Amino acid sequence: MGAKGGARGFLHGAFSPAAHPLRPNCDCQAASDCMHFPGQNPGWWSYDGMADQYEAVAVPHYFAPVAEQLIADLQPARGSRLLDVGAGTAIVGSTVLRKCKNVRVVATDLSLMMLRKAKQRGVPSVVADIGHQPFPSHCFDIVVASFVLNHLDDCAIAIVELGHMLRPAGQLAVTSWARGPSENALGDVWNAIVSNWIDREALRMAVNEALPSEAELSELAKLEAVLEDAGLPVTQSRVVELPVQMTMASYIESRCIAMASRFMMAELPSYDWSAFRQEVTAALVARFGESAVFGTKVNVVVAVRPMEV
Ligand SMILES: C[S@@+](CC[C@H](N)C(=O)[O-])C[C@H]1O[C@@H](n2cnc3c(N)ncnc32)[C@H](O)[C@@H]1O
Repeated sequence: MGAKGGARGFLHGAFSPAAHPLRPNCDCQAASDCMHFPGQNPGWWSYDGMADQYEAVAVPHYFAPVAEQLIADLQPARGSRLLDVGAGTAIVGSTVLRKCKNVRVVATDLSLMMLRKAKQRGVPSVVADIGHQPFPSHCFDIVVASFVLNHLDDCAIAIVELGHMLRPAGQLAVTSWARGPSENALGDVWNAIVSNWIDREALRMAVNEALPSEAELSELAKLEAVLEDAGLPVTQSRVVELPVQMTMASYIESRCIAMASRFMMAELPSYDWSAFRQEVTAALVARFGESAVFGTKVNVVVAVRPMEV
Protein backbone atom coordinates (compact mmCIF):
# COMPACT_ATOMS: atom_id res chain seq x y z
CA MET A 1 0.00 0.00 0.00
CA GLY A 2 2.64 2.52 -1.02
CA ALA A 3 1.88 6.15 -0.18
CA LYS A 4 2.24 8.45 -3.14
CA GLY A 5 2.99 11.55 -1.09
CA GLY A 6 3.98 14.48 -3.26
CA ALA A 7 1.26 16.57 -4.82
CA ARG A 8 -1.68 14.77 -3.22
CA GLY A 9 -0.05 14.41 0.17
CA PHE A 10 -0.73 17.07 2.76
CA LEU A 11 2.47 18.08 4.44
CA HIS A 12 2.94 20.56 7.23
CA GLY A 13 4.45 23.71 5.77
CA ALA A 14 3.58 22.78 2.19
CA PHE A 15 0.15 24.37 2.14
CA SER A 16 -0.94 26.62 -0.67
CA PRO A 17 -3.83 28.93 0.29
CA ALA A 18 -5.05 28.82 -3.30
CA ALA A 19 -5.93 25.14 -2.95
CA HIS A 20 -9.13 25.02 -0.91
CA PRO A 21 -11.14 22.34 -2.66
CA LEU A 22 -13.39 21.70 0.34
CA ARG A 23 -13.85 25.39 1.16
CA PRO A 24 -14.62 26.94 -2.22
CA ASN A 25 -15.73 30.21 -0.65
CA CYS A 26 -12.60 30.62 1.42
CA ASP A 27 -10.92 33.98 0.82
CA CYS A 28 -8.03 33.54 3.24
CA GLN A 29 -4.89 35.18 1.96
CA ALA A 30 -2.45 33.03 3.88
CA ALA A 31 -2.37 29.77 5.77
CA SER A 32 -1.76 31.71 8.98
CA ASP A 33 -5.19 33.39 8.58
CA CYS A 34 -7.00 30.24 7.65
CA MET A 35 -9.19 28.19 9.95
CA HIS A 36 -10.07 25.80 7.16
CA PHE A 37 -6.96 23.70 7.44
CA PRO A 38 -6.67 23.44 11.21
CA GLY A 39 -3.58 21.20 11.13
CA GLN A 40 -1.67 24.08 9.55
CA ASN A 41 -2.59 26.70 12.04
CA PRO A 42 -3.71 25.22 15.34
CA GLY A 43 -6.35 27.53 16.75
CA TRP A 44 -9.47 27.21 18.85
CA TRP A 45 -11.16 25.00 16.22
CA SER A 46 -8.24 22.55 15.99
CA TYR A 47 -8.12 19.13 17.62
CA ASP A 48 -4.37 19.49 18.17
CA GLY A 49 -4.66 20.95 21.66
CA MET A 50 -7.16 18.46 23.02
CA ALA A 51 -5.97 15.04 21.91
CA ASP A 52 -5.36 13.90 25.51
CA GLN A 53 -8.87 14.79 26.70
CA TYR A 54 -10.45 13.44 23.51
CA GLU A 55 -8.73 10.11 24.02
CA ALA A 56 -9.48 9.96 27.76
CA VAL A 57 -13.13 11.02 27.77
CA ALA A 58 -14.72 11.33 24.33
CA VAL A 59 -13.39 8.09 22.83
CA PRO A 60 -14.57 5.65 25.52
CA HIS A 61 -17.96 7.26 26.09
CA TYR A 62 -18.94 8.47 22.61
CA PHE A 63 -16.76 7.16 19.79
CA ALA A 64 -15.67 3.62 20.78
CA PRO A 65 -19.27 2.31 20.89
CA VAL A 66 -19.85 3.72 17.39
CA ALA A 67 -16.66 2.07 16.13
CA GLU A 68 -18.00 -1.28 17.39
CA GLN A 69 -21.27 -0.73 15.50
CA LEU A 70 -19.45 0.20 12.31
CA ILE A 71 -17.34 -2.92 12.36
CA ALA A 72 -20.39 -5.08 12.96
CA ASP A 73 -21.96 -3.52 9.84
CA LEU A 74 -18.85 -3.69 7.65
CA GLN A 75 -17.58 -7.17 8.60
CA PRO A 76 -14.06 -6.62 7.19
CA ALA A 77 -12.91 -9.79 5.44
CA ARG A 78 -9.51 -11.38 6.04
CA GLY A 79 -6.85 -9.72 3.94
CA SER A 80 -8.85 -6.54 3.37
CA ARG A 81 -7.43 -3.01 3.52
CA LEU A 82 -9.19 -0.29 5.48
CA LEU A 83 -8.63 3.47 5.36
CA ASP A 84 -9.89 5.47 8.38
CA VAL A 85 -10.12 9.17 7.33
CA GLY A 86 -10.67 12.07 9.73
CA ALA A 87 -9.56 9.29 12.02
CA GLY A 88 -8.69 11.39 15.04
CA THR A 89 -7.03 8.98 17.46
CA ALA A 90 -8.09 6.09 15.17
CA ILE A 91 -10.59 4.37 17.39
CA VAL A 92 -12.21 2.85 14.29
CA GLY A 93 -8.94 1.59 12.87
CA SER A 94 -7.70 0.24 16.18
CA THR A 95 -11.00 -1.52 16.89
CA VAL A 96 -10.70 -3.24 13.52
CA LEU A 97 -7.16 -4.37 14.35
CA ARG A 98 -8.37 -5.73 17.70
CA LYS A 99 -11.45 -7.52 16.40
CA CYS A 100 -10.60 -8.67 12.88
CA LYS A 101 -7.84 -11.01 11.79
CA ASN A 102 -5.41 -10.10 9.02
CA VAL A 103 -6.88 -6.70 8.10
CA ARG A 104 -4.50 -3.89 7.16
CA VAL A 105 -5.41 -0.44 8.43
CA VAL A 106 -4.14 3.10 7.88
CA ALA A 107 -5.47 6.34 9.37
CA THR A 108 -5.38 9.91 8.04
CA ASP A 109 -6.38 13.18 9.71
CA LEU A 110 -5.49 16.87 9.69
CA SER A 111 -4.36 16.81 13.31
CA LEU A 112 -0.87 15.51 13.97
CA MET A 113 -1.53 15.43 17.72
CA MET A 114 -4.58 13.22 17.27
CA LEU A 115 -2.60 10.93 14.97
CA ARG A 116 0.12 10.58 17.61
CA LYS A 117 -2.52 8.86 19.72
CA ALA A 118 -3.39 6.70 16.72
CA LYS A 119 0.23 5.61 16.53
CA GLN A 120 0.13 4.71 20.24
CA ARG A 121 -2.88 2.56 19.41
CA GLY A 122 -0.77 0.75 16.80
CA VAL A 123 -2.42 2.30 13.74
CA PRO A 124 -0.08 3.65 11.04
CA SER A 125 -1.12 7.15 10.07
CA VAL A 126 -0.49 10.07 7.72
CA VAL A 127 -1.47 13.72 8.07
CA ALA A 128 -3.86 14.40 5.17
CA ASP A 129 -6.91 16.45 4.36
CA ILE A 130 -9.94 14.27 3.74
CA GLY A 131 -10.13 15.51 0.15
CA HIS A 132 -6.47 14.73 -0.65
CA GLN A 133 -5.72 11.18 0.36
CA PRO A 134 -2.05 10.33 -0.27
CA PHE A 135 -2.71 6.88 -1.76
CA PRO A 136 -3.20 5.46 -5.22
CA SER A 137 -6.79 5.19 -6.41
CA HIS A 138 -8.79 1.98 -5.91
CA CYS A 139 -6.57 0.39 -3.28
CA PHE A 140 -8.92 0.04 -0.27
CA ASP A 141 -11.72 -2.43 0.39
CA ILE A 142 -13.22 -0.21 3.07
CA VAL A 143 -13.07 3.53 3.75
CA VAL A 144 -14.53 4.94 6.98
CA ALA A 145 -15.28 8.63 7.62
CA SER A 146 -16.74 8.77 11.12
CA PHE A 147 -17.84 12.13 12.57
CA VAL A 148 -15.74 14.16 10.15
CA LEU A 149 -18.03 15.19 7.26
CA ASN A 150 -19.68 17.78 9.55
CA HIS A 151 -16.40 19.74 9.45
CA LEU A 152 -16.62 20.26 5.68
CA ASP A 153 -18.27 22.98 3.61
CA ASP A 154 -18.64 20.69 0.65
CA CYS A 155 -18.96 17.03 1.54
CA ALA A 156 -19.63 16.06 -2.08
CA ILE A 157 -16.03 16.74 -3.15
CA ALA A 158 -14.65 14.67 -0.28
CA ILE A 159 -17.02 11.78 -0.96
CA VAL A 160 -15.95 11.65 -4.60
CA GLU A 161 -12.31 11.47 -3.45
CA LEU A 162 -13.12 8.71 -0.97
CA GLY A 163 -15.02 6.83 -3.68
CA HIS A 164 -11.84 6.91 -5.78
CA MET A 165 -9.95 5.24 -2.96
CA LEU A 166 -12.25 2.20 -3.12
CA ARG A 167 -11.82 -0.92 -5.15
CA PRO A 168 -14.89 -1.97 -7.14
CA ALA A 169 -17.43 -3.35 -4.65
CA GLY A 170 -15.54 -1.65 -1.81
CA GLN A 171 -17.54 -0.09 1.02
CA LEU A 172 -17.64 3.51 2.28
CA ALA A 173 -19.06 4.00 5.80
CA VAL A 174 -19.95 7.40 7.24
CA THR A 175 -21.46 8.57 10.51
CA SER A 176 -22.92 11.76 11.97
CA TRP A 177 -24.74 12.79 15.11
CA ALA A 178 -28.53 12.54 14.89
CA ARG A 179 -28.67 13.60 18.54
CA GLY A 180 -25.37 14.72 19.99
CA PRO A 181 -24.16 14.59 23.61
CA SER A 182 -25.35 18.14 24.32
CA GLU A 183 -28.93 17.62 23.09
CA ASN A 184 -30.48 16.64 26.40
CA ALA A 185 -31.46 18.13 29.76
CA LEU A 186 -27.81 18.42 30.85
CA GLY A 187 -27.01 20.32 27.68
CA ASP A 188 -29.94 22.66 28.31
CA VAL A 189 -28.53 23.58 31.72
CA TRP A 190 -25.09 24.06 30.19
CA ASN A 191 -26.39 26.27 27.37
CA ALA A 192 -28.44 28.46 29.70
CA ILE A 193 -25.27 29.26 31.66
CA VAL A 194 -23.25 29.80 28.47
CA SER A 195 -25.57 32.68 27.65
CA ASN A 196 -24.40 34.48 30.81
CA TRP A 197 -20.81 34.47 29.61
CA ILE A 198 -20.65 34.94 25.85
CA ASP A 199 -22.66 36.48 23.05
CA ARG A 200 -24.86 33.65 21.77
CA GLU A 201 -24.90 34.91 18.18
CA ALA A 202 -21.12 35.17 18.01
CA LEU A 203 -20.88 31.65 19.42
CA ARG A 204 -23.45 30.29 16.97
CA MET A 205 -21.65 31.82 14.00
CA ALA A 206 -18.25 30.55 15.13
CA VAL A 207 -19.51 26.99 15.60
CA ASN A 208 -21.29 27.09 12.24
CA GLU A 209 -18.06 28.18 10.61
CA ALA A 210 -16.13 25.34 12.23
CA LEU A 211 -18.85 22.71 11.64
CA PRO A 212 -20.68 23.95 8.54
CA SER A 213 -22.40 20.66 7.65
CA GLU A 214 -23.33 19.57 11.20
CA ALA A 215 -27.00 20.61 11.07
CA GLU A 216 -27.65 19.23 7.59
CA LEU A 217 -25.99 15.87 8.20
CA SER A 218 -27.94 15.29 11.41
CA GLU A 219 -30.69 14.06 9.06
CA LEU A 220 -30.18 10.47 7.94
CA ALA A 221 -31.70 11.17 4.52
CA LYS A 222 -29.19 13.98 3.88
CA LEU A 223 -26.26 11.74 4.80
CA GLU A 224 -27.60 9.05 2.45
CA ALA A 225 -28.03 11.63 -0.33
CA VAL A 226 -24.38 12.74 -0.12
CA LEU A 227 -23.31 9.17 -0.94
CA GLU A 228 -25.99 8.46 -3.55
CA ASP A 229 -25.23 11.75 -5.34
CA ALA A 230 -21.59 10.68 -5.64
CA GLY A 231 -22.66 7.49 -7.45
CA LEU A 232 -22.26 5.27 -4.39
CA PRO A 233 -25.48 3.30 -3.79
CA VAL A 234 -26.43 3.01 -0.12
CA THR A 235 -26.55 -0.58 1.14
CA GLN A 236 -27.13 -0.01 4.87
CA SER A 237 -28.61 2.92 6.71
CA ARG A 238 -29.77 3.21 10.29
CA VAL A 239 -29.96 5.40 13.36
CA VAL A 240 -28.19 3.77 16.30
CA GLU A 241 -29.35 4.73 19.79
CA LEU A 242 -26.50 4.69 22.28
CA PRO A 243 -27.10 5.09 26.01
CA VAL A 244 -24.33 6.99 27.81
CA GLN A 245 -23.46 6.82 31.49
CA MET A 246 -20.46 8.61 32.89
CA THR A 247 -19.39 10.59 35.93
CA MET A 248 -20.46 14.23 35.93
CA ALA A 249 -16.78 15.17 35.99
CA SER A 250 -16.24 13.23 32.74
CA TYR A 251 -19.33 14.76 31.16
CA ILE A 252 -18.07 18.24 31.97
CA GLU A 253 -14.64 17.38 30.59
CA SER A 254 -16.26 16.11 27.38
CA ARG A 255 -18.33 19.30 26.99
CA CYS A 256 -15.20 21.40 27.55
CA ILE A 257 -13.61 19.98 24.40
CA ALA A 258 -16.72 20.49 22.24
CA MET A 259 -16.35 23.12 19.51
CA ALA A 260 -18.46 25.72 21.35
CA SER A 261 -16.31 25.43 24.47
CA ARG A 262 -13.12 25.72 22.46
CA PHE A 263 -14.40 29.03 21.10
CA MET A 264 -15.34 30.21 24.59
CA MET A 265 -11.92 29.28 25.94
CA ALA A 266 -10.30 31.25 23.14
CA GLU A 267 -12.51 34.30 23.64
CA LEU A 268 -12.81 34.55 27.42
CA PRO A 269 -10.05 35.57 29.84
CA SER A 270 -8.90 32.42 31.62
CA TYR A 271 -10.41 33.55 34.96
CA ASP A 272 -13.81 33.96 33.24
CA TRP A 273 -13.52 30.51 31.70
CA SER A 274 -12.68 29.06 35.15
CA ALA A 275 -15.62 30.88 36.70
CA PHE A 276 -17.95 29.61 33.94
CA ARG A 277 -16.70 26.09 34.53
CA GLN A 278 -17.33 26.37 38.26
CA GLU A 279 -20.82 27.77 37.69
CA VAL A 280 -21.80 25.08 35.20
CA THR A 281 -20.35 22.31 37.40
CA ALA A 282 -22.28 23.52 40.44
CA ALA A 283 -25.53 23.76 38.45
CA LEU A 284 -25.18 20.30 36.89
CA VAL A 285 -24.26 18.59 40.16
CA ALA A 286 -27.10 20.37 42.00
CA ARG A 287 -29.64 19.25 39.41
CA PHE A 288 -28.37 15.79 38.35
CA GLY A 289 -25.92 14.63 41.02
CA GLU A 290 -22.54 13.04 40.32
CA SER A 291 -23.64 10.89 37.33
CA ALA A 292 -24.58 11.92 33.82
CA VAL A 293 -27.06 9.58 32.15
CA PHE A 294 -28.50 10.39 28.72
CA GLY A 295 -28.94 9.01 25.21
CA THR A 296 -27.30 9.85 21.90
CA LYS A 297 -28.35 8.89 18.37
CA VAL A 298 -25.91 8.27 15.54
CA ASN A 299 -26.60 8.07 11.80
CA VAL A 300 -24.65 5.19 10.24
CA VAL A 301 -24.68 4.82 6.45
CA VAL A 302 -22.75 2.35 4.31
CA ALA A 303 -22.49 2.64 0.51
CA VAL A 304 -20.76 0.51 -2.09
CA ARG A 305 -18.62 1.42 -5.08
CA PRO A 306 -20.27 -0.18 -8.13
CA MET A 307 -18.30 -2.85 -10.03
CA GLU A 308 -18.53 -0.76 -13.21
CA VAL A 309 -18.39 3.04 -13.12
C1 LIG B 1 -14.92 14.34 16.05
S1 LIG B 1 -13.33 13.86 15.50
C2 LIG B 1 -13.70 12.20 14.92
C3 LIG B 1 -12.47 11.34 14.97
C4 LIG B 1 -12.70 9.86 14.71
N1 LIG B 1 -13.21 9.60 13.39
C5 LIG B 1 -13.54 9.22 15.77
O1 LIG B 1 -14.54 8.57 15.43
O2 LIG B 1 -13.17 9.33 16.96
C6 LIG B 1 -13.14 14.76 13.99
C7 LIG B 1 -11.77 14.61 13.36
O3 LIG B 1 -11.82 15.12 12.02
C8 LIG B 1 -10.60 15.77 11.75
N2 LIG B 1 -10.81 16.69 10.63
C9 LIG B 1 -11.52 17.83 10.60
N3 LIG B 1 -11.50 18.36 9.36
C10 LIG B 1 -10.76 17.53 8.59
C11 LIG B 1 -10.38 17.52 7.21
N4 LIG B 1 -10.74 18.50 6.37
N5 LIG B 1 -9.61 16.51 6.77
C12 LIG B 1 -9.20 15.52 7.62
N6 LIG B 1 -9.53 15.47 8.92
C13 LIG B 1 -10.31 16.46 9.40
C14 LIG B 1 -10.23 16.45 13.05
O4 LIG B 1 -8.85 16.76 13.12
C15 LIG B 1 -10.66 15.38 14.07
O5 LIG B 1 -9.60 14.52 14.40
